Amino acid sequence: MMQGEPVGKCALEEAYTQERTRLFSLAACDTPQGEYHNPVFGEGKPSATIMLIGEAPGAEETKLGHPFVGKAGKQLDALFCKFGVMREDAFITNVVKYRPVVRSEKSTRNRTPQPAEVKASLPLLKIEILHLSPKLILTLGNTPLKAVFALAGQKPPVIGVAHGKQHSIVIEGETFTLIPLYHPASGIYNRTLVEVMEQDAAFVGSVVQPLKA
Ligand code: URA
Repeated sequence: MMQGEPVGKCALEEAYTQERTRLFSLAACDTPQGEYHNPVFGEGKPSATIMLIGEAPGAEETKLGHPFVGKAGKQLDALFCKFGVMREDAFITNVVKYRPVVRSEKSTRNRTPQPAEVKASLPLLKIEILHLSPKLILTLGNTPLKAVFALAGQKPPVIGVAHGKQHSIVIEGETFTLIPLYHPASGIYNRTLVEVMEQDAAFVGSVVQPLKA
């Protein structure tokens, strides 16, 4: 894609098809690292003003083929309630489009995507962002925060400092507003974050309400 070239619906569909082909070729190598056969792509209205970016689908998302369903989906719905907008008003995607896993004889567990996996996923994430041209990007957790800053060619700030604040990010000459958030599951593992996450959600609410009008 050339710089400044508009990214149409076809370009996004084409990019998803290409990613599916890439992932299927990884699956052919029979590596135990990820569930490449069932990628989960972004979903939402092309006219959405908010784009929400998570890390990677989990087991339930991979089974059902949609981002943020099951437990993570319930946490996300609660977050949207706090923002005062409907989930349907956002385009929801993940940095990595397949479930990265660690397999043992007894179980298959999620794992954080490795830097090389994130790097390989960046071209598609860039196309999604340019295609949607959202008024507001929300990242959930560290992986998408790092990915969006990487697309802007910038060193990412740590989430503990960056969360709940507006950042201007320039990707391919287009300026986007980003508010990094903790992943909704973070409060389960670290109770001290719950209040901070509430404040961040209230701040997002104050930013998104005028966008609805
Ligand atoms: N967590 C994520 O970051 N993405 C999902 O789709 C589900 C859980």
